[in-house]
Amino acid sequence: MDKIKIALLGDIHANLEAFNAVMEKIKTLEVTHYVCIGDIVGYNANPKECLDMMRALNPVATVRGNHDEYVGTEQDLYGFNPSAAAAVNWTRSQLTKEDRKYLAELPYSTVVRIPGVSPFSIVHGTMDNPHTWGYIFTRLQAVASMENQRPYKLCFFGHTHMPLYFVEKEYETQGFFFQEDAPISIEPNSRYLINVGSVGQPRDGIPTAAFTIYTPDENKVELYRVEYDIETCQQKIRDAGLPEKLASRLEIGR
Ligand SMILES: [Fe+2]
Repeated sequence: MDKIKIALLGDIHANLEAFNAVMEKIKTLEVTHYVCIGDIVGYNANPKECLDMMRALNPVATVRGNHDEYVGTEQDLYGFNPSAAAAVNWTRSQLTKEDRKYLAELPYSTVVRIPGVSPFSIVHGTMDNPHTWGYIFTRLQAVASMENQRPYKLCFFGHTHMPLYFVEKEYETQGFFFQEDAPISIEPNSRYLINVGSVGQPRDGIPTAAFTIYTPDENKVELYRVEYDIETCQQKIRDAGLPEKLASRLEIGR
């Protein structure tokens, strides 16, 4: 059997140029399974195309992001910033009823079970109250989430668009930046909470599309970054009449 290699894609946010560039790279990596960490839609201008593409990959698991939830339902947009809310409203008009139902029915978190791989958990925001869409930036926020990922050793998340990871070892938890030249080695007797990076709207100051590859046989988790056609994506945002801020932020990765 081929070695299992799992691609984890999160915060795609309707950025077709970034998603295509990520898939080009993935073609060279002998990936066997896909996992989606949520926020397929929102912010950028190709929600339908990105949703169809993600579903066609037949991911072994997909969780619901906050944008997926708001686009999939008629909930009012209290708490969204104005440009994100404008994009949610526009995105609702771009999807079919069936697309929106699919998004609205995604689970908040799930356990990924692949034969031959220790089960691991995934969530968009946090394992503690995932439906409240809290963010994990700090060690304390990570600890609260990790208490709720037990008994699983490994949990992948998204939502912050900031590739950070946290390691709990002997009752101590530490946070680190997740970088493409520094794979995480999964050690026995440690617990991990890993942000997979954002495909479609990175916010760590690096504008390239980010995604994660997990190779269980090698106990290795790697971050990849790929260049994509930012200008085309920006032009589509402007052509759709979406807020200029959504276009300009892409080139600075914020
Ligand atoms: Fe997001």
